[in-house]
Amino acid sequence: MITALVSKKGGVGKTTTAVSLAAALALAGRRTLLIDLDSQASASLSLGVPRHLLAPSTADVLLREMPAWRAVRATALPNLHLLTASADLHDVEEELTQMPDPAKRLQRALVDLTPDYEITLIDCPATMSLITTNALVAADSFMLPVVPQYLALEGVQNLLEGVRRMRHRYGTGARLAGIVLTMVDYRTRAGKENAARLRALYGDRVFAVEVRTNVRLAEAPERGLTIFEYDARSTGARAYQLLSQEFLWRTAADGQPEAQAGPGPRRAEAYRFPQSSASGPQH
Ligand SMILES: Nc1ncnc2c1ncn2[C@@H]1O[C@H](COP(=O)(O)OP(=O)(O)O)[C@@H](O)[C@H]1O
Ligand SMILES: [Mg+2]
Repeated sequence: MITALVSKKGGVGKTTTAVSLAAALALAGRRTLLIDLDSQASASLSLGVPRHLLAPSTADVLLREMPAWRAVRATALPNLHLLTASADLHDVEEELTQMPDPAKRLQRALVDLTPDYEITLIDCPATMSLITTNALVAADSFMLPVVPQYLALEGVQNLLEGVRRMRHRYGTGARLAGIVLTMVDYRTRAGKENAARLRALYGDRVFAVEVRTNVRLAEAPERGLTIFEYDARSTGARAYQLLSQEFLWRTAADGQPEAQAGPGPRRAEAYRFPQSSASGPQH
């Protein structure tokens, strides 16, 4: 099962949710793959990959015909594998348009890889670019992180319409796994009101579990650690652990069968974290 994290806005918690949810699922014993499609590579860096070791990345897979399994690497968490992003993804947009079926490159690249995993999460850039289109074409479902603040409703509406248009154009089947409220701050009136408005309008399309503002979530990436390694007792860790349970329940209840339990990743032995970064910094 493949789920893309999408939003036209930056800074809404896409990357934090992709990394933390992937880590929670891996810690719960699910074989999980995180794919970083943002040229800023925040998800990859958050997991402790040094900037100079980001290659091979999704850019090599999308543009240079590198088999996706060759670009996958292990992380410090046993069940979590990672396909990094790199800065040259920035050029992908332009180069992709020169290729046949440019919106289906990722889907095709993942055919051999994702069956090895129960769950694949894709962290997207903050645009509805061709890269995000590739993610939505490849995905079974998408998650939409939203900060309940001014104009949040418009953003959600806008994105859902964008995905609907894309469905027409490319025949994508990605369904809404749910809207996730992130950085919820009940100390402000606006925070309270906007969270309530989103829930009133979108009902059970909004995850019951919400992620409140928690400084530990903002600190963990700087150390190259997931929230569970950095501070397992934080409210952020607890929120993402609960979110992972709701995620599993929702995506299965949605009629998406969870992947069959099978042997571990076929090429697990081949996955090597480059050089000495195997355990990430400060472990
Ligand atoms: N629940 C949270 N509480 C506090 N800070 C958060 C929370 N979620 C994300 N952040 C921080 O907010 C910033 C934007 O989050 P990020 O996940 O990078 O968003 P996006 O990927 O949508 O751009 C980052 O600095 C991140 O560490
Ligand atoms: Mg991001």
